[in-house]
Amino acid sequence: MATKFSLTPITDLPISIKTFPKHPQAIRLFPLLPLNSPSSHYFFKRKAPSSQSLSVSNAVTEQFVESTQDSETTSLSSPSSSKVVFVVGGTGGVGQLIVASLLNRNIKSRLLIRNPEKATALFGEHDEDKLKVFKGDTRNPEDLDPSVFEGVTHVICCMGTTAFPSKRWDGDNTPERTDWEGLRNLVLALPPSVKRIVLVSSVGVTKFNELPWSIMNLFGVLKYKKMGEDFLRNSGLPFTIIRAGRLTDGPYTSYDLNTLLKATSGERRAVLVDQGDKLVGEVSRLVVAEACIQALDIDCTEGQIYEINSVQGEGPGSDTQKWKELFRAAHKS
Ligand SMILES: NC(=O)c1ccc[n+]([C@@H]2O[C@H](COP(=O)([O-])OP(=O)(O)OC[C@H]3O[C@@H](n4cnc5c(N)ncnc54)[C@H](OP(=O)(O)O)[C@@H]3O)[C@@H](O)[C@H]2O)c1
Repeated sequence: MATKFSLTPITDLPISIKTFPKHPQAIRLFPLLPLNSPSSHYFFKRKAPSSQSLSVSNAVTEQFVESTQDSETTSLSSPSSSKVVFVVGGTGGVGQLIVASLLNRNIKSRLLIRNPEKATALFGEHDEDKLKVFKGDTRNPEDLDPSVFEGVTHVICCMGTTAFPSKRWDGDNTPERTDWEGLRNLVLALPPSVKRIVLVSSVGVTKFNELPWSIMNLFGVLKYKKMGEDFLRNSGLPFTIIRAGRLTDGPYTSYDLNTLLKATSGERRAVLVDQGDKLVGEVSRLVVAEACIQALDIDCTEGQIYEINSVQGEGPGSDTQKWKELFRAAHKS
């Protein structure tokens, strides 16, 4: 049976970059630039962002202060943590939240980004040890040189493109090329020392031939996501797959993210976690981001596949114990 808890808003983002040398190279970070990147999506149309000024430079600091007052979060945020998390898809709706949350928790992060200028606009200035950005596209195996994974202990992949043809497919960035080939390239490139790779996938991937999923799958997105999942499952790497329902809240592109998160987390902070591809509802990107980060450290999530939804009510926030209970309860469903 699915169990529920709720989530407190995560945070805000900082990052920046200077030059974009040929990949794969670490890119140094520097101050914010505004960004307008209309990002379409996968199930339904997202609300277009209103034009708000981008003033996120202090947000992470503020949120970090809040985080350190939360004992459960603190357990994930020890500055002495040896964790180094490699994020693929960090400029996306879920990815931005993941990166922000990692930074707030003082967890060292590494980002693979196709257009580092986007990162410049999204994140603040950080010490390179804390946040390093690599220019790269998962479709190009050469961008996944071993040097980009130096010191990496954990991986979160929340990369994706639109289910139907859109501008996001420009340059052949189709579901086949990203959700399948890109993920396969990433998995093949990962060092065997990685302690966990968390993949964001989608509900319905096991039912892509059945209505209504077959409509969503007209251009293969569910099929290719399932192929990517299977490749990861068979890789021998310690994995956790989080299959999201229809994503809500965000994407948070070109916003004062701090304000937005507070405004949109609303009353739907409770979380349903299940297994067996039975859930069909929607889920906040905040919840997906938190689930990914929590799964990195919760032993019982290794080798597991979960579906996740948001519903009205209180929930786990960043409380690791509550997330453990959610994941464990899903095993019994
Ligand atoms: N939308 C939904 O309702 C829904 C439902 C279930 C599951 N999902 C899945 O959930 C995940 C997160 O969704 P989201 O809406 O947060 O994603 P998103 O905003 O569409 O972001 C996708 C991210 O993937 C990156 N990316 C795309 N192609 C890439 C490539 N070839 N190499 C490297 N990076 C690449 C994008 O980078 P750029 O900035 O360079 O484009 C961006 O950072 C995706 O896998 C999505 O398919 C979505």
